[in-house]
Formats: sequence, structure tokens, C-alpha cells
Amino acid sequence: YLIGIDIGTSGTKTVLFDETGKVISSSLQEYDIIQKKVGWAEQKPESWWEATKTSLVEVVKKSAINTSEIKGIGLSGQMHGLVLLDENGKVLRDAIIWCDNRTTEVAKEMEEQVGREKLVSITGNVAIPAFTLSKLLWVRKHEPEVYARINKVLLPKDYIRYQLTGEFMTEVSDASGMQMLDIHKREWSDELLEILDIDKVLLAPVVESHAITGYVSSKVAIETGLSETTAVVGGAGDQAAGAIGNGIVATGDVSATIGSSGVVFAYTDEVVTDPEGRIQTFCHAIPNTWHVMGVTQGAGLSLKWYRDTFCKEEKEIAIEKNCDVYEILTDQAREVSTGSEGLIYLPYLMGERTPHMDPYASGVFFGVRASQGKGHMVKAIMEGVGYSLLDCFELIKANNIPITSVKISGGGGKSDVWRQIHADLFDTEVKTINVSEGPALGVAILAGVGTGIYKDEKEACERIIGIKTTQAPISENVAYYKKFYPIYKILYTQLKDTFK
Ligand code: XUL
Repeated sequence: YLIGIDIGTSGTKTVLFDETGKVISSSLQEYDIIQKKVGWAEQKPESWWEATKTSLVEVVKKSAINTSEIKGIGLSGQMHGLVLLDENGKVLRDAIIWCDNRTTEVAKEMEEQVGREKLVSITGNVAIPAFTLSKLLWVRKHEPEVYARINKVLLPKDYIRYQLTGEFMTEVSDASGMQMLDIHKREWSDELLEILDIDKVLLAPVVESHAITGYVSSKVAIETGLSETTAVVGGAGDQAAGAIGNGIVATGDVSATIGSSGVVFAYTDEVVTDPEGRIQTFCHAIPNTWHVMGVTQGAGLSLKWYRDTFCKEEKEIAIEKNCDVYEILTDQAREVSTGSEGLIYLPYLMGERTPHMDPYASGVFFGVRASQGKGHMVKAIMEGVGYSLLDCFELIKANNIPITSVKISGGGGKSDVWRQIHADLFDTEVKTINVSEGPALGVAILAGVGTGIYKDEKEACERIIGIKTTQAPISENVAYYKKFYPIYKILYTQLKDTFK
């Protein structure tokens, strides 16, 4: 058996799999984002750990297996979050997470100091507030007393590793998103750390993603029912992990994921960087491979915001029908024609990354008419996220990266309406796979490779992953979207100065 743990933005999901990828048991424990100011986003690392422990206990209890048969655990999680620990391993402040945009100025100053060209040549990316480095520099500038007490800087999932095993360790895919890694050499960049005067001892050692980093500690074994013989491997940032869990392991493989954020992800076997920095380049979780991705900040987050703000009635109906509210919303969207009768949504609730790299951007509903209802709002949100992912898709093509198959996943990928919108917008078949556990499956696979159950990631994916659904583009809809997409693009250009 193998376990995958995904420390997400809205909750932690733990899944126990057998070697064929079958889900034996799973548990989701939710938590909230703390937003003390507009554009800020924090979470308590301690609440991730509580959620992880509770989910582990539940998974073990539900499965009724002998836990010494669990060979390995893989860790995945929201990328870029800044976790700071003091010398006693205590959390120094709430974690500043990926969608926090307070570091816009600091990121710009850092890029000027290093030089954009050098920064891209080492780290693969231009400076943006999402990345951990700008968050660390922000703390140094604004909370020097906290900075002075830092003993270790960790990513969310690596904080959980520390709790599980007592080890400080990270791995290449998530470390790439800190923007201090030389992505060619797959190790910390001494040159960059020296320019920025950051002491390397603050960072955890970096390994390849399937390497064993430690074993479940005796304390945790007692608390959770796990066994001390279970290995914990490096794991991966949620995007690289989700990609492995979707079988994105060869040239031509592309995935579109609608989680809190939305991502179009493409495998590459060399480092490809976008000269204008509109897409991101990171190490993939397979040795000697990389990936590019375009990121939209507010994908599932947009529909979650809409659900939590406007859907009291739908929530009641969902309880009555014993189904998920999102199924009710999908049914409302199904009734609305392609293009939502001119209602266009810009999903920039938390600023935007690809292609604008504009932390000031905000959400927009454009073209509201009295004839429209809730279904139009839902469909427009789905389409707006789709337009934004089309921006990513087009940039991947523009960088000459081959696309032979597109797999769609994440919470949003469960909606057949949302999937069809993407097939029509991309004008390409979109597929889903038979195991929909994304990042948790991806890191369970890495744990299986690290502990010798599978030869490598490709072999594991061939063994486990099959296609479940295929949706082809509908030509009439494709033509419609060719009309609406330019309007979506013009809206940002026209509005961008008003966002500041
Ligand atoms: C990727 C990114 C998000 C987070 C949260 O660069 O910021 O996908 O990992 O899911």
C-alpha cells in the first residue's frame, strides 16, 4: 500500500492506495484562508498538521489494514508558501501562501538587483509575488525581528514532512517554486543566494522527488496508527504531483487542472523558458525532466467564492438531494447557451499570473442584462476560467512545445459542462482518467518508485492510469468562442489601468 497526502489551499486530502492505484480509503479535512488585508493570504501551518493527522487517523481506521504494509508516503501541497521555523522547530508567524500579493514591490526590487536575464537564466522565471523568495525578502524588510530568529524556511508540504519524520528536506519540483533553485543543476543557486545575502543554512537540502527523505517518527506512529517502517519520499509541489497523477510523463502530454488555481501544464525534456516570463518553468518530479505551466490565480476559487457568497438556496437543495452543490451549479450552467448571452467574466479575484503577471488585476462581470440569471453567472465563471486557461494553452503552443493529448482534472474537471467548455475553447479533445486523485495519486506513485514497487514513474503510470472520458470539440461552439475570446482579451487591456 501507498499513501498520498495533498496539503491544499482549501483542505488536506489523504488517500490510501493499493499498488494498482485503487483507492482504499480517503479523508478530506478543510480549513480557511486568513485574509487580514486586501491582497494578503495566510494560513496556520499548525492547522495543516492537525488536518493531516486527523486525515491519517481516519484513513487508517476506515481501511482496517495492517499499517506495516504501507510501504511509503508521498507529500504534495500548495506551492510557494513561506513557513518559518525558529531553532526549536516552532512556527514563527502564519505562513504567507501562494496567492498572497503583498510582495509585488519587493519582487520588483529583487529582480532589479539580480537582473531579469540572470534571474530567468538561473531560476527559469521572472520575479512574481507568488514565489517564496519575494515573501522571504518581504519578511526581512518588514519584520526584521522575525527574520533574525529564522532557523529554517520550509514549503507547506515540507513542514508536514518535518512533523511526520523530524527531517528538514525538500525536493526539486517544489523547490523550483521558491525561486532560489538553479533549475538546470537542480540545486540551490549559490550565486543567487550570495547576491541576495541569504544564508543557505536556512534552506533544507534538496533531493529528487522520489528519494526517501525519512521514516514516520515513533511519536507520530503512536498518534496516528501508522508504522515506523513507512518511508516518506520527497513528493512534489501540487502541480507536478497532479501531473504525474494524470500521466503527464512524456513529450506531448499536457494537462489542464481546475483546482483553487487553474493550470495548464506541459512536460518537457529540456529547460524551456518564455522570454517574457508569462509562463513558468520548473523542474518536473522525474529526474532530468522539466515542465512549463501557465497559471490562472482564481479558477475553482472563483466558483467557490460564488458558491459561498450567493448560493444559500442551492446549498439547501443539495442537502435535500444529497448531492454536491457544484452539481446543482453545473446543472444551472447546462441550461445556458455557449457564450452566456454575452456575459463575460474575468477571473482575476486574486490578481492574475499568466499571461498578465498583474497582482492588481481584479474580477469583472461584463455584459450583465436583466434577462440573465444565476445559470448565466455560473456558466460565465466557467467560461472566464476557460478563457484564462486558453491564454496559458496558447502560450505553451507559442513556445513550440508539442501538444498531443490534453487531460483535464481538479475539482472543476468533475463538471462535464466545464470540461466541454475547455474542449471547445482549446478546439481539442479533452480526456479524464480513471483515478481522479491527482496530486495524492502522483505522490503515492513517487513513494512507490522510491520504495521499489515501481521501476519508474512512466511504468507506474502505464500500469495505473487509463482514460475514462473523452470529449470532442463541437464546431458550432468553437466558432462562438472565436467571437467571444477577443472580447475577453480586450476587456483586460481596456481595464488594466483602473485596477491599480
Ligand atoms: C502554482 C501555484 C498553485 C498552488 C496552489 O504555481 O501557485 O497551483 O500550488 O495550488
